[in-house]
Amino acid sequence: MPLCDSAMSRRHAILALRQSAPVILPSLLKCDFGNLEREVRLLERAGVTALHLDVMDGQFVPNLTYGMPVVAGLRRLTQLPLDVHLMVQDPLRFVDAFYEAGADAITVHGEACDDPKPALDRIRELGAAVGLAVNPGTPLEGILDYLPLCDLILIMSVEAGFGGQAFDSRAVERLRRVRAAREDVVLEVDGGITAETIARCAEAGADLFVVGSAIFDRANYAEAVQELQMRARTSPGRK
Ligand code: DX5
Ligand code: ZN
Repeated sequence: MPLCDSAMSRRHAILALRQSAPVILPSLLKCDFGNLEREVRLLERAGVTALHLDVMDGQFVPNLTYGMPVVAGLRRLTQLPLDVHLMVQDPLRFVDAFYEAGADAITVHGEACDDPKPALDRIRELGAAVGLAVNPGTPLEGILDYLPLCDLILIMSVEAGFGGQAFDSRAVERLRRVRAAREDVVLEVDGGITAETIARCAEAGADLFVVGSAIFDRANYAEAVQELQMRARTSPGRK
């Protein structure tokens, strides 16, 4: 397929998720990497419609996970859109490589570069959905200037680096502020999302909900996903 077609379908695959919000995206960090194909099939059968891939470099965050080979392996395993979260210092160095590996969305951290604009522009030029992430302690003003360059904003509700952390409730107001600043942006929240915390995030305007422990700590992934989806759908005042 010519790049332009695949480029169009990649970015569109992520933008289209918004139509079916609230969307639960399993975070591939706490899954069983020794049985990745089995895990992906279980998630597909659980009805998930995209996967969130947590790439960590041990420099921007004090943890190290996986890189392009695993993303490329997942691309061969599934048709699900791959939402790649780069917790990587100076991410511009790797944007092309993750696009080639099959990323449909590439999200970089504003805190990981002096100026995220070159990385955001390159992601757009390649044709993936353009994402910008911000940690709980980073002033939101720092990213609002970049909103026009982004398809997706990732509001972290934990400090990037590890699964299984407690939800940071500052994320709720931060979600509200981004939603108020741009109605059409794909708004994603990530970290400590559980049956107890998801409703507040949905009510604040989030579309995509990244979930690690609340799925992978459960024996039945389908039950976990359905329960989370139901909690998000029935939150009072969800937009
Ligand atoms: C943290 C990652 C998150 C995390 C979510 O740096 O970006 O995606 O894995 O895991 P839980 O849902 O367990 O907080
Ligand atoms: Zn993540």
